[in-house]
Amino acid sequence: MLELESEIKIAPSILSADWGYLGSEVQRVRRGGANIIHYDVMDGQFVPMITVGSAVLKRLKELSNLPFDTHLMVKTPERHIKSFCEAGTDYLTIHAEEVNGNLDKIIEEMDSFGVVKGIAFDLGTDPSHPSYNEICRYIMDGKFDMVLVMGVKAGAGGQSFNEESLKTISYIRGLNPNIPIEFDGGINYLPEIDGRSTADLVAERGARIIVAGSKVFNPEFISDDYKTPIQRIREQALIGYMASQKK
Ligand code: DX5
Ligand code: ZN
Repeated sequence: MLELESEIKIAPSILSADWGYLGSEVQRVRRGGANIIHYDVMDGQFVPMITVGSAVLKRLKELSNLPFDTHLMVKTPERHIKSFCEAGTDYLTIHAEEVNGNLDKIIEEMDSFGVVKGIAFDLGTDPSHPSYNEICRYIMDGKFDMVLVMGVKAGAGGQSFNEESLKTISYIRGLNPNIPIEFDGGINYLPEIDGRSTADLVAERGARIIVAGSKVFNPEFISDDYKTPIQRIREQALIGYMASQKK
């Protein structure tokens, strides 16, 4: 399986890290084999909680050379593109539910910073609804670089996976067979649904960047730099990846 490892990227979500030691936590998961740091930004409006902003991101980037993947769970995300890009994010994802026209301008601004441009669909959002027609056209045309599909309602770590999200992955795959899909929420490496893990199921549908918070930052594995959960999630996702290649 070793030669396939690069097909799947594991992105631990800082939401479940120890907030008092964030710098050490990102360094630990890097040593533990993570590919990307998933940086969850919440503004207390799009979702109830408030987390961290661009100042913290800037310092964390100095402490770890991994790519940072900023997930903006905020209202009017276009107001925050510049500050997160200037702080050094490598990926920047905004929520489809918060896009109010002006897509070309948003894309142009992200392009001016050279970030990977992501668009996210929260659990419960149906991308085939007419209000998302324009965004879907942009996905079909490859104007976004990545789509993030949520497996839980945005706002908190440790929630259970919702199987409806599998349909969303398939729908996005149908729109654009090449666009990278990131999956966020409810990722586990243990059997959960018909004897299969959620990491396996989402990779089978086409997810290639696997975000995991609570299952990675489990204090039980801290002495190991969280290597055990990162490896287990990767193994499970590779099983799904191989199944997807046979179809
Ligand atoms: C939820 C966040 C996720 C969250 C995932 O709103 O976007 O990134 O940390 O946590 P788990 O993996 O515990 O579901
Ligand atoms: Zn997230």
